[in-house]
Amino acid sequence: MVVDTSLEELRKATLARFASATALDELEEARVQALGRKGTLAAISKNFGKLAPEERAHTGKLLNAVKNELEAEYERKKAAFEREALAQRLSREWIDVTLPAPGIRPGSLHPVTQIQEEIEDLFTSLGFAILDGPEVETEEHNFDALNIPPTHPARDMQDTFWLTNGHLLRTHTSPVQVRGMRKFGPPLRMIAPGRTFRNEEVDASHEHTFYQLEGMMIDRDVSVANLIYFMKTLLSGVFHRDVTVRLRPGYFPFVEPGFELDIQCLICGGSGCSVCKQSGWVELLPCGLIHPNVLRLSNIDPDEWSGFAFGLGLTRLAMMRYGIDDIRQLQGGDLRFLNQF
Ligand code: PHE
Repeated sequence: MVVDTSLEELRKATLARFASATALDELEEARVQALGRKGTLAAISKNFGKLAPEERAHTGKLLNAVKNELEAEYERKKAAFEREALAQRLSREWIDVTLPAPGIRPGSLHPVTQIQEEIEDLFTSLGFAILDGPEVETEEHNFDALNIPPTHPARDMQDTFWLTNGHLLRTHTSPVQVRGMRKFGPPLRMIAPGRTFRNEEVDASHEHTFYQLEGMMIDRDVSVANLIYFMKTLLSGVFHRDVTVRLRPGYFPFVEPGFELDIQCLICGGSGCSVCKQSGWVELLPCGLIHPNVLRLSNIDPDEWSGFAFGLGLTRLAMMRYGIDDIRQLQGGDLRFLNQF
């Protein structure tokens, strides 16, 4: 009966400790002391052998009952602690699923693309077609058909990326003139925006990859007066304000006469900066009347047809319009910069 008494004491004491435990580790400690391998219950059952055989059945049952009761109470209390911990965590980490989602942030067109599309709209309204040409070109389209034979010094004006198969990365959009003339013949009004490549030393106003927009009009009796009209229309359409321009002779083998149309630098207002190389002027719009050889090389009779062509520097135009003082910002893909447009 000694065993019975100590079992009852253990039961009471342990239930009391379970009840007063305020945290999981306290509960666990009480369990180990009562029910662990070296705990009180284990010690009590060691005396089991000393009992008289008739007592054993009774005490054995009691021992099991106490063990089961304590274990059950332990599990109940442990589950309660765990529920409480979870509830606390949920209240801390609560997410309001009814809040509106942050939403998809809208992107925008690159500033060069925006200007390109405006100019496309302007020229389509004037009856021009928009043509496209490959970025990898043949030597013939990029040079020969534009009146620049292999030995011509003008080839050195454009430091070219040559490919091992004899093709090249187009140095200007002018090869699309050739493709347009050969595909459609005269009369022809076309523009060709696109990416161009030169082996340039990169600085504030030069990149190896940049954008141009080529234009060409072929008809009967096209003159410099027509050319100037279209160039003025183009510039006022882009800038929506007066810009100071100057026209000076310029040499390109595929035009005669040829001009450089410069605009007064809009970054510095003409006083000189790194973009205009301290000159106050930016070369923006080289142009001229199409050289008779160029027409001939694309099977157009120069006695019957004449025309003008221009090669607008799209990247530079974007810089002028938005006051961007370093071309590398336009190419960098930095969203903090691009988000402004
Ligand atoms: N293709 C010339 C260049 O990139 C520009 C140009 C185009 C000049 C059309 C005259 C006529 O330098």
